[in-house]
Amino acid sequence: MTKDMTEDQKTTLVLGGTGKTGRRVVARLAARGLPVRVGSRSGAPPFEWDDPATWAPVLRDVESVYVVYHPDLTMPGAAAAIRSFAESAVKGGVRRLVLLSGRGEEGALAGERAVRDSGAAWTILRSSWFCQNFSEDFLLEPVRADEIALPAGNVAEPFVDAADIADVAAAALTEDGHAGQIYELTGPRLLTFEEAAGEISQAAGRAVRYVPVTPERYASVLAEHVPAEHAALLCDLFIRVLDGRNAHLTDGVERALGRPPRDFTDYARGAAATGVWDR
Ligand SMILES: NC(=O)c1ccc[n+]([C@@H]2O[C@H](COP(=O)([O-])OP(=O)(O)OC[C@H]3O[C@@H](n4cnc5c(N)ncnc54)[C@H](OP(=O)(O)O)[C@@H]3O)[C@@H](O)[C@H]2O)c1
Repeated sequence: MTKDMTEDQKTTLVLGGTGKTGRRVVARLAARGLPVRVGSRSGAPPFEWDDPATWAPVLRDVESVYVVYHPDLTMPGAAAAIRSFAESAVKGGVRRLVLLSGRGEEGALAGERAVRDSGAAWTILRSSWFCQNFSEDFLLEPVRADEIALPAGNVAEPFVDAADIADVAAAALTEDGHAGQIYELTGPRLLTFEEAAGEISQAAGRAVRYVPVTPERYASVLAEHVPAEHAALLCDLFIRVLDGRNAHLTDGVERALGRPPRDFTDYARGAAATGVWDR
């Protein structure tokens, strides 16, 4: 009898599997013919961070998990939820956890610690700002409206492509040699937000400007889109990670994958070609 190729392979659970990084991880594993399950509120079965009763069903027959916390690893309660989830996962037979974290975020360290304490083989992906924030998240509407207002002053950020994060995550979930690694993931180039807006303008074929705003102004703008307590925390997080601490490159992508990271220009051209920035 011919054995099914995936018969002996246990499932990889991808939390946030419909999000910017998670859906790319799902695509990579599926393309390799590996069994993969989306862990999100719209998954089947559904996964909800705030409802631990939903955890066991998604963890059934799972060996590896890509852990993405929502809305942000630095939020109050995140570390406790991750600790509790990681304990359930390991108890249920999970042997490998790959955590998406943020670079230069003290608030994310407790969540990282929870994964490192779990007893599973772990890998931490400390990521810079995602390029895709401009095309698949909260900066999409500002780009479409030709004005990106942020409390980022003139600081430079090494924007990282979610495709690179997904490549590293897929490698850490399926290959040997990544256990116990903390990968700081950056793009290959530092750009100020003004320069990023310039790249987007070039790719989109019209002027999109960056406008530095005060933290107070930004908090009030954010509060129109997200719950007030999230707005204050997110604003605080932006101010801290954009204070210059992250204005240097790291070799995380190269170290994990043996190749350089994708450049912002290529990201911007690709995003513009999808029409996402068209008005
Ligand atoms: N953006 C950045 O620049 C940046 C940088 C460093 C680190 N990070 C970290 O990246 C993480 C977010 O990852 P991402 O950007 O790949 O995801 P994302 O695009 O923000 O998507 C969120 C994902 O989580 C799911 N989700 C939302 N609420 C949920 C809930 N209550 N319970 C379970 N699942 C839920 C969503 O699916 P459903 O809607 O189907 O539930 C979706 O799959 C955060 O922890 C953040 O700290 C972000």
